[in-house]
Amino acid sequence: MNGAREHWGSRLGFILAAAGSAVGLGNIWRFPYVTGTNGGAAFLIIYLVAIVLIGYPMMITEVGIGRRTQRNPVGAFKALAPNTPWWLVGALGVLTGFVILSYYSVVAGWSLSYIFKAIAGFTPEMAFDELFVGHISQIGEPILWHLIFMALCVGIIAAGVVRGIQRWVKLLMPILAVLLVVVALRALTLPGAGEGVAFYLQPDFSEVTGTTFLDAIGQSFFTLSLGMGAMITYGSYLKKEDTVPGNGAYVVGADTAIAIIAGFAIFPAVFALGLEPGAGAGLTFITLPAVFAEIPAGSFFAFLFFVLLSIAALTSAISLMEVVVAWITDEKGMPRKTATILVGAISFVVGIPTVLGYSVLSDVTFLGFDLLDTYDWIANAIMLPVGGLLTAIFAGYVWTAKKAQEDFNTPPSRIVLGNWYGVMIKFIVPIAIILVLVFGIIDVV
Ligand code: PHE
Repeated sequence: MNGAREHWGSRLGFILAAAGSAVGLGNIWRFPYVTGTNGGAAFLIIYLVAIVLIGYPMMITEVGIGRRTQRNPVGAFKALAPNTPWWLVGALGVLTGFVILSYYSVVAGWSLSYIFKAIAGFTPEMAFDELFVGHISQIGEPILWHLIFMALCVGIIAAGVVRGIQRWVKLLMPILAVLLVVVALRALTLPGAGEGVAFYLQPDFSEVTGTTFLDAIGQSFFTLSLGMGAMITYGSYLKKEDTVPGNGAYVVGADTAIAIIAGFAIFPAVFALGLEPGAGAGLTFITLPAVFAEIPAGSFFAFLFFVLLSIAALTSAISLMEVVVAWITDEKGMPRKTATILVGAISFVVGIPTVLGYSVLSDVTFLGFDLLDTYDWIANAIMLPVGGLLTAIFAGYVWTAKKAQEDFNTPPSRIVLGNWYGVMIKFIVPIAIILVLVFGIIDVV
């Protein structure tokens, strides 16, 4: 251990950092689409239930483990269960953070490059599918943007928790919120926007199937950055007098609000132009630029959109990097700057195959996935649920729900965890995650 542990300068510092981690690509390109195709408002209701029953209990569990132990995920499990193999759950989290960071940075690099493509201007005659495929199937350019994005993360993380993370999220998160509202207002005021709102929210219970529930649970997990120690790490910079249930509620609320607003930014615009909505990279880098190209001052709004997407990715990526850096500095005693540069350099290299997967390595596939989707699938479908499941079992049965609940309720806060916490963390959360894990694997294999 080197020196005293840093702590957030204020409650807001923690809330913005944790919300920054939670609000990411998942909110902008996944949530709206999953909602639109799973019955709109019908899905939203199920999603909100999943957030309350599964996301919130897991959020406070992770934040609470961090606050209690004041350690990185590996050290946290060691502190609560000394001389047992439970620290491996923390180690899995560190590894997951590392894997997600390596390809998240590649996608964030595409977003950075699109800021400049938007500045150069989007016009209706452009073929946006070719533009995108042309970009990602190059080698030098995407690798350079990946490097630039990773360097930004390194710069922020090396500066420390308060002077790095907190300082930047305090600047960036308000900008993100304002940009999102501006883009949503632009979209909602386009002629024909109503159809998009209808697609997004019209409740259609006939679309609700077993998969809808699994999608809702899976999304609630990924979007809140759960299952890999990010919230344990950020929680470890809380002081003992900071509350867990209250702070956790703000983070969950902010993430949910941003996800819902993102839907209002995307669908009205897509439908106003009579285009088909899609998900993921296609929606963000092909459909939306085509939409922006058609509307007045569209390149300007495209610029704002890619700035906001890049900010969302950056504040998530730094939380991934912080998990690994906290582990190395706490457990191995390496100075923070050295650790950060090392982690940045290794993740940069580990991410490179996901770039090459669209050119020289395009023949390499796994279960039909290209390399980037393979990294993504292994992390999201396997590593996050396994990490979350083991964390829930640990809190519920090893540390015990009763002790955890008592710890999280001190000092007293406006939200008091009742005995329902034990029911959730011991039964509901593990069962839900097992279902997601099993059906997620069956679905693909
Ligand atoms: N929550 C982020 C998103 O929605 C992704 C993420 C997962 C970030 C896990 C950090 C840790 O995009």
